Amino acid sequence: MGLANRITTFFGTRFDLDAGREFLDKQIHKRLPPHTSWLHVFASLSLLLFISQTVTGILLLMYYRPTPEEAHASIKYITGEAHFGWLFRQIHAWGASLMILFVVLHMMRTFFAGAYKKPRELTWITGTGLFVITIIFGFTGYLLPWNQVAFWATTVGTESANKVPVIGSWLQYFLRGGDAVTGETLSRFFVVHVIILPWILAGLVGVHLFLMRLNNLATLERVGEEKPFPHQCGIPFYPVHVAKEGAVAVLLLAVLVTLSVVAPWGIGEPADPLSTPEHIKPEWYFLPSYQLLKYFEGPYGAVVGILACSVPFILLIVWPFLDRGKERHPKKRPLAVGIGLLGAVAALFLGVLGHISETDQTFFGKRYHIDLLGRPHLIDENRSGEEVPGEHP
Ligand code: HEM
Repeated sequence: MGLANRITTFFGTRFDLDAGREFLDKQIHKRLPPHTSWLHVFASLSLLLFISQTVTGILLLMYYRPTPEEAHASIKYITGEAHFGWLFRQIHAWGASLMILFVVLHMMRTFFAGAYKKPRELTWITGTGLFVITIIFGFTGYLLPWNQVAFWATTVGTESANKVPVIGSWLQYFLRGGDAVTGETLSRFFVVHVIILPWILAGLVGVHLFLMRLNNLATLERVGEEKPFPHQCGIPFYPVHVAKEGAVAVLLLAVLVTLSVVAPWGIGEPADPLSTPEHIKPEWYFLPSYQLLKYFEGPYGAVVGILACSVPFILLIVWPFLDRGKERHPKKRPLAVGIGLLGAVAALFLGVLGHISETDQTFFGKRYHIDLLGRPHLIDENRSGEEVPGEHP
C-alpha cells in the first residue's frame, strides 16, 4: 500500500472523512453573485497581508528586544546583519500600510455596494472592529523601533488622549504606563502589538468570515428580495474567483518586495527624550485626525476636536441601523453614496493638508509656505524666504 493510501486509511478508520470531503466540496464549489468582480479581491488581500504580517512579525521577534536600551540596536542588527532580516522588516513595515489601505478599500466597496444592509449588519460591525484593530496595530507597531520620530509621534499621539472628556488624564497615563513615554510604554505597546491584537484580530476575522459564509455575499437586489441565483448565473468560487485572488496575491507579493528594495524604511536616530525634533507628523493613516485636531484649540476646543474625530467612527459602526432603505444598488442610493463620497473626500483633503502643513510647496511656479492649519502664504523670493502677508493662491 502506498504512503498516501496508508495515511487515508489511518484517518478514514478514525474519522468520517466523507463528511469532511462533502463540507470542503461545498465550500470550494459555492457560487458567488454574478456581479462579483475584481473589487472583491480587496478583502482577500487584507487577509493575505494579515498572514504575511504574522509570519514576518514572528521572524522579527526572534531578534527584536523591547527595551529602550536595546530596541533600536536590535532593529539595526535585524536590518544589517541577520540573514534576510532587512527584507522581512521592510515587508512588515510596507505590509502594515498596505493592509490599512486594503481594509479601507474593502470597507468602501462593501459600503457602496450596500452589503452592510440586512441581514449583514453584524458582518459590517465585526468589520469596523477589524478596521479599528488594524489601525491600533499601526499605532503600537510604530513605537517599537524606538527612534526619534516614533518616540515623539507617540508622545504627541498619547497627548491627544488627555483631551478626551472625563477620563482623559487617566487614559493618557494608562496608554503610557506613566506620565511620559518611557520603557513602560514600550513594554505595553509591545505586548499589545504582538500578543493581544493578533489574537483578537484572528478571532474577529474568523467570526467575520463565518458570518459572510452564513449569508453568502450580497447581491445588488433590494433588501428582503435577494433570490438564490440560478446555478449557471453565479460565478464559481473555484476556479474563477480563486484564480483572480491568486493573480492579485502574486502581484501583491511582487509589489511588497519591489517597495522593500526601491523605497526602504529607514531606521532613524535612536529616541532621545531630551531633544524634540521639528515638525513631528504621524503615519499617513492618522493624518486626517491629526489635521482636524489642529482646528480646535483651547480646553473646550480640544474636547470638541476629539468628539469631531470620534463621530465618523461612531457613525461607521451604527451606519447599518441609520440607513434603513431597501435599495442596495449604488445608483438608487444617492444620499448614502453622497455621504460616503463626501466622507472619503474630506478624509483625503485633511490628509493632504496634514501632509503638506508646515512645509514649503510650489503651485503654478510660485513658492508658498503652508502653515500649521494648511493655509498657503506666498514666499517673496526677492526677500529670501519672507512671506507676503495675506496673499493666497
Ligand atoms: C482585516 C480586515 C478584514 C478582512 C480580512 C475581511 C475579510 C472579508 C472577506 C474575505 C469577505 C468576503 C469577500 C468580499 O466581500 O469582498 C468579507 C466580506 C465583508 N466584509 Fe470584510 N474584512 C475585513 C474588514 C472589513 C471592514 C473594515 C468592513 C467594514 C466596516 C468589512 C465589511 C464586510 C462586509 C459588509 C462583508 C460582506 C460583503 C458582501 O456580502 O458582499 N470588512 N470580508
